[in-house]
Amino acid sequence: MGSILVTGGAGFIGVNFARRSVPSMRRRVVVLDALTYAGNGSSLDGLLSDQLVFMKGDIRDTDLVGRAMAEHEVDCIVHFAAESHVDRSITGPDEFLSTNIDGTHSLLKAAKSAWLAGDGVPHRFHHVSTDEVYGTLSATAAPFTEEHQYQPNSPYSASKAASDHLVRAYHHTFGLDVTTSNCSNNYGPFQFPEKLIPLMIVNILHGKPLPIYGDGMQIRDWLYVEDHCRAIELCLEKGVSGEVYNIGGNNERPNMEIVEKLCTMIEERFAADATLADRFPDCPAAHGKSNMSLVTYVADRPGHDRRYAIDYRKASSELGYEPSETFETGFSRTIDWYLAKEEWWRSVMDGSYRDWLEKNYSTR
Ligand code: NAD
Ligand code: DAU
Repeated sequence: MGSILVTGGAGFIGVNFARRSVPSMRRRVVVLDALTYAGNGSSLDGLLSDQLVFMKGDIRDTDLVGRAMAEHEVDCIVHFAAESHVDRSITGPDEFLSTNIDGTHSLLKAAKSAWLAGDGVPHRFHHVSTDEVYGTLSATAAPFTEEHQYQPNSPYSASKAASDHLVRAYHHTFGLDVTTSNCSNNYGPFQFPEKLIPLMIVNILHGKPLPIYGDGMQIRDWLYVEDHCRAIELCLEKGVSGEVYNIGGNNERPNMEIVEKLCTMIEERFAADATLADRFPDCPAAHGKSNMSLVTYVADRPGHDRRYAIDYRKASSELGYEPSETFETGFSRTIDWYLAKEEWWRSVMDGSYRDWLEKNYSTR
């Protein structure tokens, strides 16, 4: 068996995939990552070895990808690399189109040329995509199935939709062996503190405003990141070429419920551990106050999708997928990780990130 190329393996889900899935794989894994603001080499600390190799590089560089594939005899690509934050796609869509569309096409071209020349070699290209390609749901609509019409509403989701179509086209036109997974909102360790859950945790600890977009009643289907990684392993093991699998967490919640839960769970931890008040003196819970006092309603995200929900019955019946973490257990593990890994989140929140947040919140 050849090596696996994991693109975007220094980002949130890619790092969790490397930590959870690589040790059992008994084959070399090459992480290719451009280390944008969202990627952190330090997240792979302690993992790098002969089995897990890191390469800094851009997926849009087809020659570089081709050389890496030849050097490491890659026969499988798990493609995470992307620009992933919806708000950034609204303020600066160009990078999303370039990385998510051109970058995916660059990988497909490299894969086609490495794997389909002559008699071809057994291979698999797994594309990691999102439920946002399906657009938004009303409160009573049935969850997204794999047959749901594509109706992307943000530059981010439109770029992911385009990448899904390219993957599909390379399968149908050239015979590339591909699978695609479209999953819901991930949460867990190593998530950059610009997405809802880690942003709220860090802001609560610092006593900063908790920005709630619009009425805060938008619904997401929260998926613990390790459950998602297990689903990807199942796609690689049992997924049928050309097929798409929706992956969900069975955990639909409005944003306000998420924020309330985080506020309460952090208060409980402060009550149980006096050292937390010393470490985070600006947190309301350090003074016996409610963390919910930080909630601040701000202008809504333009084009904000109201509800996502995933029907994962296909992944369940064909791959044996079921999420294992509940709202309670997944949130506990996540909060405890952020409390224990203060050094990690402080190190990734550099000046450029703070500048971006301040600029964008002040214009809302
Ligand atoms: P992330 O933003 O945390 O990480 C993305 C990684 O890709 C970073 O390490 C970054 O350095 C790297 N990258 C970006 N541009 C690159 C380029 N041109 N070349 C090489 N590397 C590049 O993203 P994530 O949350 O880990 O998401 C991973 C994938 O899963 C994405 O494709 C995203 O669309 C998809 N997805 C994410 C979620 C979620 O909730 N986070 C849900 C559904 C789907
Ligand atoms: O559904 C899958 C998608 O989930 C992925 O494809 C994306 O890569 C990922 O970023 C995520 O997109 P969302 O836009 O749903 O995630 P985000 O964490 O940015 O926002 C979650 C919800 O919380 C959304 O309704 C917007 C709201 N929100 C977010 C932030 C950052 C707030 O109310 N305030 C905030 O400060």
